[in-house]
Amino acid sequence: MTVDSLNRFAAQKLEQLTATSLHRKLVPTRALTAGVVHRDDRELVSFASNDYLGLCRHRETTAANLAATRAAGTGSGASRHVTGEHPLYGKLERALAAFKGTEDAVVFGSGYLANIGIVPALIGRDDLIVIDELCHSCLYAGATLARAKVVTFEHNDASSAAALIDRHRANHPRCLILTEGVFSMDGDRAPLRDLLDIAARTDAWLMVDDAHGVGVVENGRGSVIDNGRPLAIPLQMGTLSKAVGAYGGYLCTSRDVADLIRNRARSLIYTTALPPGVLAAALKGIEIIASDAELVAKPLENAQRFAALCALPPPQSAIVPILLETPERALEASRQLEQQGYLAVAIRPPTVPEGTARLRCAFSATHTLEQVEGLAAAMTQVLATL
Ligand SMILES: Cc1ncc(COP(=O)(O)O)c(C=O)c1O
Repeated sequence: MTVDSLNRFAAQKLEQLTATSLHRKLVPTRALTAGVVHRDDRELVSFASNDYLGLCRHRETTAANLAATRAAGTGSGASRHVTGEHPLYGKLERALAAFKGTEDAVVFGSGYLANIGIVPALIGRDDLIVIDELCHSCLYAGATLARAKVVTFEHNDASSAAALIDRHRANHPRCLILTEGVFSMDGDRAPLRDLLDIAARTDAWLMVDDAHGVGVVENGRGSVIDNGRPLAIPLQMGTLSKAVGAYGGYLCTSRDVADLIRNRARSLIYTTALPPGVLAAALKGIEIIASDAELVAKPLENAQRFAALCALPPPQSAIVPILLETPERALEASRQLEQQGYLAVAIRPPTVPEGTARLRCAFSATHTLEQVEGLAAAMTQVLATL
C-alpha cells in the first residue's frame, strides 16, 4: 500500500519527464552477439553495447565463468572482508596490476561502486576536487560523497583545470583531479599528459576513469599510454563490465594506496563480493586483451570506417556521437534507424548537457564491414529527413 502523496509525487514527475521527451522505458532486449540483438520479435544490428570486443559471449570467457561457477557456485555469500575473498580476487588483482604496470590493483563490485568508493576514501571535507565538466555521473557521485569543494573545468581543457587549481589549491590540503580517459558519450580522449604535468606542479592527484579506453585504444592498453609508454598516473580506474566482457570495477595504483582503499572504501567493505564466475571471466578477458592485438584493433577500425563514410571527424575511440541537439530529434532518428534494422540509442539530458542530445554509436570487434557500411548508409538517409 503506497501513500497517496507519494503516488501523486511520482505521477507529477513522470508527467514532466514525458512532456519533455525525457521519460525512459526499459525495453526487453536479448543480445545474440555484441552486435546483434533480438527485440520485439526482430533482429537488429546493434551499435548500443559497450561489449567492444565481443568478450561477453566469447568461448573462453564463458568457459572460465562456467568452470568457476560449477566449482564455487553462483554467489559469494559475503563481503570481501568477511568470507567473500575467493582466491580468484588475488589472481585478478595481480593480473590487472601487471596489465597496467602498477604495484597493485583493487577490484570492486562495479565501475560505479569503484568511483563512489575511491574518491571519498582519499578526499574529505577540507579538500578540493577539480573535475572535467563531462565526467560520468558516478565520478560526480563520488565527489559528492567526499563532501569536498568541487569545481568543474571546461571539457578536455587543461588550462581551465590549471587556472582553477591555481585559484583554489592553497586553501585545501589535498587536491584530486578527475577525468575520463575516453569520454563515454563523446568518445574523445583527455589531455592526460598535460593534466599530469599540472598535477605534478600543484601536488594534485590525478585519477583517470578508463572505462571506455581499455581494450580499445593504444593496442587495448588504454588511454594512459602515451607514445607507446605508460603515463605515471597514480589512480587508474576502470571497469570489467565493458571491453573486458564480465562485470566489476577496479583501481590500479600503488601498494599503499591499494591497501588504504581496501580498508577505507565503503563500497568495497560494505557490499557482497562478486561471484567467482564473474572474477574468472574478467581474468580471462584481461588475458585476451593483453594478447590478441588483432582483436583489440577492430572496434576503432570499425568506428573509423563509419566516420569516414558519414564525413565525420576521425574518431579517437570506438564511440561516435551524432549530435542532434534536442531529445525529440534524437528519439526520431533512433526510431527511424530501428525501422531500418539498426539499434543506435538516443542519449538525452541529464546523461548529456541540455542541447546536446545525440545518438551514441558504439562499435565492436564483432561488427562486420557490411553492418558498419549499412549503418552509415541508413544514418545518412535518416539525418537528411530530420
Ligand atoms: C566513464 C564510466 N565510468 C564508470 C562507469 C560505470 O561502470 P560500470 O558499468 O561497471 O558500473 C561507466 C558506465 O557507464 C562509465 O561510462
